[in-house]
This record gives sequence, structure tokens and C-alpha cells, in this order.
Amino acid sequence: MTRHVLARVDDFTDREVRRIEAGGKPLCVAQVDGRFYALIDRCPHGGAPLSGGRLTGTVESDGPGHYRLCRRDEMLKCPWHGWEFDLATGQSWSDPKATRTRAFAPSTVEGGDLVKGPYVAETVPVEVDGNYVVVDLP
Ligand code: FES
Repeated sequence: MTRHVLARVDDFTDREVRRIEAGGKPLCVAQVDGRFYALIDRCPHGGAPLSGGRLTGTVESDGPGHYRLCRRDEMLKCPWHGWEFDLATGQSWSDPKATRTRAFAPSTVEGGDLVKGPYVAETVPVEVDGNYVVVDLP
């Protein structure tokens, strides 16, 4: 493993997403509420640079007409087709088979019952070492 310095911590503004090359790999690095995240900067769906996406959150609902925004800016929306990836795990919660326009009877389910999508963006562990944001890459 080789340690790579990505940037100074102070160089990032809160909720910034930036592409940084390290060890020949393009990374999508984001800071949210002082926590840093890194993904390989390639969407597993169609190859878009995830660093061109925007941060978003999740929505929880107790029933029709009642919803609340959660996990503000902890998801990254791909710039090409809008699929959303969890910054911490890379997991997408979009299922391409469910994106067709069809009519369904409305129902509610617990968050834990949602089905994961087939795509997972590749995450890279990122940490703060002193004043620097660093990753260890093979
Ligand atoms: S390329 Fe990212 S959602 Fe399609």
C-alpha cells in the first residue's frame, strides 16, 4: 500500500465534491460535515465521472403525504442518469428494472425492506492525517 496525499483538509469546503487523481486512479472525493469520502470516479452503471454529480439525501415516509429528508448530502447523484450512490458504501438503491413507467397500488414498507440495486460504486477508505486528506492505495 502506498499513502497518497489528496489535499489539505482546509482546501475543502463543506459539501464539496472534487475529482483527484492518486496512484493513477481517478477518485471522487467529498466532504460532508467534516467527514471525507472517496469513490472511484467512475459510475458502475455507464461510466460517468461521479465527481460531476451532486450531493443529495434520502427520504423517509410514514405514509402518503408525509415525508422527511434524511441523511442530508450523504448520497451522490450520478450526472448522467441520476442514480444515487451512498458515499459511505458505494451502494446504489436504484433498480433499473423498476424504472419503467408502470402503475402500482401504493403501499409503505420499512426502510430495511427496500431492495438494493445491482450496482455498487467502488469505495476507497479515506482518512485525515494531520492537516491532510489521504488514501492508501495498492
Ligand atoms: S452512468 Fe451513472 S447512472 Fe448511468
